[in-house]
Formats: sequence, C-alpha cells, structure tokens
Amino acid sequence: MDPRAPTLVPPSPAAPERVLVVDDDELILKALARILEGSGFAPRCYASPSAALEALETERPVVIISDYMMPGMDGVAFLNQARARLPEAVRILCTAADDFRVALEAVNSGEVYRIISKPWHQAELVTTVCQAAEAARLRRENDRLTAEVQRQNGQLREMNTRLEEMVRARTQALLEGLIAALDYRDAETQWHSQRVSLFAQRLARQLGFDEPDLTTIKHGALLHDIGKIGVRDRVLLKPGPLTTDEWTEMKRHPELGWALLQRVDYLRPASSIVLQHQERWDGAGYPAGLRGEEIVAGARIFHVVDTLDAITSDRPYRRARPFEHAVDEITRCAGTQFDPSVVEAFLSVPPEDWERIRLDVETVAVLSGELAESPPAPEDLAAALDALRG
Ligand SMILES: [Fe+2]
Repeated sequence: MDPRAPTLVPPSPAAPERVLVVDDDELILKALARILEGSGFAPRCYASPSAALEALETERPVVIISDYMMPGMDGVAFLNQARARLPEAVRILCTAADDFRVALEAVNSGEVYRIISKPWHQAELVTTVCQAAEAARLRRENDRLTAEVQRQNGQLREMNTRLEEMVRARTQALLEGLIAALDYRDAETQWHSQRVSLFAQRLARQLGFDEPDLTTIKHGALLHDIGKIGVRDRVLLKPGPLTTDEWTEMKRHPELGWALLQRVDYLRPASSIVLQHQERWDGAGYPAGLRGEEIVAGARIFHVVDTLDAITSDRPYRRARPFEHAVDEITRCAGTQFDPSVVEAFLSVPPEDWERIRLDVETVAVLSGELAESPPAPEDLAAALDALRG
C-alpha cells in the first residue's frame, strides 16, 4: 500500500460535497476535476476568478481550490474575496514552489487553510481536500452546536424567569392570604396593612427612595404585623387591657414576623422593617430599644404612616378622627416618637394624596366582596391589589 495514500475516508458518493476549483490552465482544471470526481467530490471548475466569484453564492462549495498565478486577479486576492462572500468554505491555494513566500503569507494571514504545491502528488492532493472538507464539516457542526447551545441557554433563561415569576406570584398570593387571615383574627387591622403599605411607599417616594427600596418598604409595611399570627387568640383578641405577661407575648410579634420572612428569599430585605416597626426615634420602642438612625429608614417611615392610619381609621372604641388631627399628633411627636426628617417629608405631601390612597383601598375592599362573609381567593385579592398599585 502506498504510504502516501489518503488517510481520510472520502465523502459519501450519495451526497458528494462541492469543491470549487479556479485555474486559468484548462488542462490543470481538467486534471483536478478528474481526481476530485474519482475521490467522491463534486468539482465545479472555473477558468477565471471573476466568474468563480460570481458563482460562489449559487454553488456554495465546502472547499475552494485556487491557483495562485492567474491573469487579472491572483489566487490570494481571489481567496480573500471568496472569504468575504462565503466565509464558511475552506480555502486551499495551489501554487508553484517559486511562489512560496506569497503562499506562506497567505497562510499566516488566515486567507487559506492549506497550500498544495504544483506539481502535486495525487494522494497528497486528495488527502488535503478531504481534510479541508472535514474541517468545513467540523466548522458547520461547531456553528450548529453553538447556535443550539445559545438557543437552549435562551430557553433556560426564559424558563428560569417564568419559574421565578411563578414562585414570586404564588408566594405573594400566599402572603396576601396570610394577611387576610390575620385581618380576620384582628378586625381592627382590616385593610390596615394595605393602606399603610401604600402610604409608606408614597412617603418613601417623597423622601427620594427608588427601586428596589420602594418594593422592600412595600413588603415591610404590608407584612409588619404578620408575626401576630403567632400570638394566641386570647391575647391578640382580648378586649380589655393586657396583663404584663400578655404584653410580653404581644411584644414578640416583630421578632416572630422577622423569623417568618427569613424563610422567603425575596422578602428577606423587608424583614428589618418588620423587626423594627415598633421601635421609636427616642429609643423607647421595642423589641431592641433602638434609637435614631439605628432604626432602618423603612421602619421610621412606617412608624409615621402607621400613626396616620390609626388616627384616621374607625376603631371599635372610637370613630376615625380628621386628617388634621393626625397632622397635629405627628408634628407633636417629631423627635420623640418619629424621625423629624420623615415628619417633614410627610408634611410636604399634598393631603389629597393620602385621601386618594384611602379611597383606593376602600374601593378594592368593596370590589373584593364582603370580606367577613365571602373571603376572596388570595390570588384575586393579590390581583386586585396589584391593579391598584399600578
Ligand atoms: Fe405591630
């Protein structure tokens, strides 16, 4: 067996791969065509580089073989243009030994994949063309796999986003349900959580807060009393004054709420607000007796709007009092109960903004049906609230 025989398997005759050949010498062209045909390729022969360039788009060869010395355009210039028109084709330069320096430059500049020396040895020629065709196949396969990986990555990203959205929506619906459950147990807080959440976001915006802080403040205010789920009915619902022990139990609700939020990744940022919503600017609050800016801004904001809501809402033992009454009380307690800068921002919000939020929540409450008689599904409640929050 000839040791210089081609080592690669020629392409399948069922689908011969196109090889475009350019050489101004008709005899060489014919010889090349014969050899390539005999090796299972489909040669497309052109005697002029310009005709070959024009045919590239329609022929779409996997391999291009070009002579170097041709009238009008040399082989390197031709292959350079061929690369621009059909970059996926693998290019071979066919050149005499005299042109070695030119050929070397062509290889080094990336214009060609291989060089075939003239005159050629048939076995070497076939091996080189087979290798070029194989390189073209590998390149196509690589492009296909890269595109496939990109497509699958895109799909995975999309699926991840959808899954995260689903988990978020379901967790939100579950929490809306928990708040509704808390509202049932503690009638005094009915719709209170929803109002203070919207109030707190309005005041936070007045103070210049932006996302993601606004969402954290929204969640913190919405869930501020969620820990009351862990307080026993006979303490939570006791009509009269609480004993010292009962107060101790009641005062655990910020920590219970904080612990609950630790379990939900996307609600964890709001947990500090829940933990500190009963702290006071002067340090007289609970559970830690934090003072001033030791208290997170979201909790200091919450504290003001919680008082606004408490004063301007009906309670079993008294009717709602006018907005002006809340303004007086909040102003009076600036620097003791409340952060003075938050109070200042509160006073700069047009009063009709607070009234509009209150009316919006009342509208949702009415649309959601009589809460005590036919509780809305948590997802309906969540959707109604989302619509309200725009
Ligand atoms: Fe509370």
